[in-house]
Formats: sequence, structure tokens, C-alpha cells
Amino acid sequence: MDRHQRPAVADRVLTEREGALVAQTLSGERTIVAPEEVVDTPAMVVDEEILHRNIAEMQAFAASVGVTLRPHAKTHKTPQIARLQVAAGAVGLTCAKLGEAEVFVDQGGVEDVLLAYPIVGEPKLRRLLALMERAHVTVAVDTADAASRLSEAMTANERVLDCYVEVNTGQDRAGARHGEEAVALARELARMPGVRPVGVMTHEGHAGASHPEAIAETAFAAGRALVATAEAIRGYGIPIRSVSVGSTPSSPYTPTIAGITEMRPGTYVFNDNTAFRHGRLGPDRCAARVVATVVSRPAPDRAIVDAGSKALAYDPSPSHPGHGYVVGHPAATIARISEEHGVVIVPEGEPGFAVGDRVEIIPNHVCPAINLTDELLVVRDGRVIDTWRVAARGRVR
Ligand SMILES: Cc1ncc(COP(=O)(O)O)c(C=O)c1O
Repeated sequence: MDRHQRPAVADRVLTEREGALVAQTLSGERTIVAPEEVVDTPAMVVDEEILHRNIAEMQAFAASVGVTLRPHAKTHKTPQIARLQVAAGAVGLTCAKLGEAEVFVDQGGVEDVLLAYPIVGEPKLRRLLALMERAHVTVAVDTADAASRLSEAMTANERVLDCYVEVNTGQDRAGARHGEEAVALARELARMPGVRPVGVMTHEGHAGASHPEAIAETAFAAGRALVATAEAIRGYGIPIRSVSVGSTPSSPYTPTIAGITEMRPGTYVFNDNTAFRHGRLGPDRCAARVVATVVSRPAPDRAIVDAGSKALAYDPSPSHPGHGYVVGHPAATIARISEEHGVVIVPEGEPGFAVGDRVEIIPNHVCPAINLTDELLVVRDGRVIDTWRVAARGRVR
């Protein structure tokens, strides 16, 4: 049952609001958009209430464990959402790319940005220097090569850049290995003019990729390794003030370790199929969905929806089969996608898949799906009340 069907209780019909609550309690899965609301599809819709709740709860959690929250904005790429996060208490944003940071500083009023990604190459150095005129920028550094080029550029322009040493605590992506290797890099950085190591950071993304029962343990191990590395760096007289961790699946764990000062989850703002399949968050906490229309019903067990890889992205889900979760239809599987077609295998007799019916799909990984859309339709109580431009979409430079 979706929220906008009005369940009758005793001798009266519930209001839409009451009905929504009952529907949610009964099924645990409600659609965001009211059936009578006209939406051209595919469309990325965002439920305002869930969005606000996700932002408020993560902020309250950060405060409760005494760390600052610096959300990763690659998830939403939208200045209006950045403003909500900062208004809730975020100390600034994390961005991967300079292009994203430029948008948030210029259009989102953000004054403090961490670029959690190596800055390499002449054009980027020029843009970084320009951005530093408009906001406080910190840059992640994980090699002496990148650091020395930053140092040269800063010195030539009489600037000093705050840096976090990016530490590999097990993800094996970028980052100097925790312990000796990261300490050596921090010491090198401290000797270079124009750059100042003020923090260490890790992305414990490998925790989220591990079995749900192993997430906590993996996250704690990563956090402890980071804290130990920070301590070792301080042992050389380098004042490391920020010890920064970040990922949504590990967010209840890593930030609780003594010595961690900052957390940088990103996906939490919307959540997605990956997150709720970890068992902690349900579809009711997934704020962003792709609304799609059933455009064909070529076989009794097969429905075609107008959301393919150009709406849903291609990321796998670690635990739910297919290319997304169809809200209210746990037994339906988006078995295949091409660019504009989603092929949904539906159980015999499943209602809701006639030609013209609409479904809401929770993407497997919401971040790349957001990067595919120009705008978010903001929904309050089933109605589209606003359109937000995904201003930093495609800003991958
Ligand atoms: C460096 C860094 N920090 C934080 C995050 C946020 O992690 P999540 O998307 O799990 O919230 C990411 C995600 O890719 C990241 O790369």
C-alpha cells in the first residue's frame, strides 16, 4: 500500500497525512510522490522530510560523539542541499573535485572546503589558487611529488596551503600507508614551504564493502590506525589538529574512537539501496528516488520502465540483485538495463506494472545517479514543491 491510499479506520477515512503514516507503518515502504501528482519521467525526486531528517540525525550524531561534520558533497552536488547541511551545523564541505568546490563556494555560500583528492597539474594549481581567494581550502596530499608541486605553486604566489595527509587504512585506493609511510610523508610536507600539514584523513570505504557483520570491526581498525598515525606524526612536533574519517556505512563506528575529530559521510544525505541493504536503514530513509513509468509489458513476467543506465547508473548492489530497488515491490528485480530501458522481472500477478503505471526506484548507488540528472524535484507531502538544479553535476575536473 502506498502512503497516498487512504486506509479506512473504523467509520472514517483517514486524512492523507494520517493515511501516509499508517501506510508507512504497515508496509515500511512508501512512495514519495502522490499518484495524482503529474511528473514527467524518468525524474529524480527528493523527499524533503526524509532529507531533513537524514541531515539532522547525522549532525546530532556528530555532536553527540564530539566530532565535527564535514559532509562529502559529491552525493548531492546541489548548492541548496549544501546550505541545509551548513545551516544544520556542518563546519564546511568535502569535495572530490575542484569543479564541485567552485560551485559550492560560488553558488552555495560555502566558506570552508576540503578537497579530498590529489590536486595534480598546472590548470588545477591555478584554479586552486583562485579558489583560495574566495574560501578556506584544505587539500589532501598522499605523495611527496604532488606535495612539492603544491609547495612550489604556493611559494611562488606567497600563499600557504593547509593539507591533510591522506592515509590508507585498508581501502587500498589512494593514500600513504598508515604508520611509517604516512609519518614520513607528513614530515616531508612539514619541511616544504607553502604547505602546512594540519590533519590526517582516511576514507574507510572498505568497511562498507565488507560483510555487514564485519563493518564495525573494520571501521574501528581503520579509525585506530589513523589515530595512531596522527599521534606518531605529533611525536615529531607537527601539530595535527584534524583526524578525519568518512563513509556512510561506517559512520556509527569510526567517529566514536577517541582521537577522531571529524567525520565526512556523503551518501547519508539521501541513502541508497547499498545503505539500506546493510540492515541499518530502510527504504523509508532513502530520500532520493528515480520515478519511472512502465512503458511496455512485453511478457507476463517482464515490464519495461523508462529508467536505464542513463537514469540509474551502473553500480552493482552488494546484496540486492539487479539495478535498483523498486519501492513497495521487494520481489521485483531490475534484471537488466540498457541506456533507456530498465527490464524488470516481476512475480506473476504483481500489481503496479501495467503500461502507464509509475514506480519509484532507489538507486543502488545514489551518487553517480545524481550526477546523471540536471535537476532534483523536491517533494513535500507527495507534491512537487520546488526544482533544484544539480549545479555541480558533471564537474569532474
Ligand atoms: C574521501 C572520501 N570521504 C568521504 C566519502 C563519503 O563516503 P560515503 O559515500 O560512504 O558517505 C567518500 C566517498 O566516496 C570519499 O571518497
